[in-house]
Amino acid sequence: MKFDILTLFPAMFDGPLSQSILRRAIERGLIQVRCHAIRDYAYDKHRTTDDYPYGGGAGMVMKVEPLTACLEQVLADRPRARIILTSPRGRRFYQALAAELATEEELVIVCGRYEGVDERLKELFPLEEVSIGDFVLTGGEPAALVMVDAVSRLLPGVLGCGESAEDESFAAGLLEYPQYTRPETFRGHAVPEVLLSGNHGEVGKWRRREALRRTLLMRPDLLETAPLDKHDREWLRRLSGETDT
Ligand code: ADE
Repeated sequence: MKFDILTLFPAMFDGPLSQSILRRAIERGLIQVRCHAIRDYAYDKHRTTDDYPYGGGAGMVMKVEPLTACLEQVLADRPRARIILTSPRGRRFYQALAAELATEEELVIVCGRYEGVDERLKELFPLEEVSIGDFVLTGGEPAALVMVDAVSRLLPGVLGCGESAEDESFAAGLLEYPQYTRPETFRGHAVPEVLLSGNHGEVGKWRRREALRRTLLMRPDLLETAPLDKHDREWLRRLSGETDT
C-alpha cells in the first residue's frame, strides 16, 4: 500500500513512522509512506500557504494554489489513488472504513489546518473529507497518522502472529474482554479463577460475557448493531437488572 501525505509539517510524521509496527512494515516494503511538504509548492516570495478568509472572520484558510500544485504532482505518480482530506467536518473514520481503505493500492491524505482549506480544492479534486472523531485537532496530521496506522495493521503481513487483527473489539461489534498476564496475584489483586482453569469452553464463555458487560457500560450504542444470540441477550438482561437496582 502506498500512502502519500500532503502536509505543512512533514517532520510530525518522523517519530511515529520510525517506531514499532509501522517502522517494520516500511522496512519490509509492506507499506510505503511519502510525506510531501505543501510549502515547497508555494511559489510567492514568502512561501505563503494560508490567507485570510473572504468575507472576514477569525482564522486562516489554506490557499488553493500550493495545495493544487502539490496534489497534481503527487497524483501524476498515483493514478489510482483515493484522496482523503482530514477535517472535523468530514465523514467519521471507523473500523469498516479502515477495512475498505485497506483494499486500495494508493491512498493520498491531505492534512487540513487552520479553519480549513479553500473550498475550491473540493471542486478540483474528488476529495473525501474524513474526521477521526467529534473533537477539533490543531491540524490533520494526527488524524492522518491514525488512518495510516489503522489501515496498515489490516494489511497482510503487517502484524506478527502474536498481534492478530482478528478477535478484537470492533471486528465482533463489541468492546474487547479484559486481559491479564503474570503474575497471578499483584498487590492482593488476583486474576479471575476461570482464566487459570485451562477450560477453553468456560474461558470463551467468560470472555463473551465480560465483553458484553464492558460494551453495555461503555458503549451501549454498539449493542444495537452487534450480532447477539439468545444467551447474550439473556446475560444483558441480567446485567441491566443489576445496574437498575
Ligand atoms: N482536523 C482537525 N480536527 C480533526 C478531526 N477531528 N478529524 C480529522 N481532521 C481534523
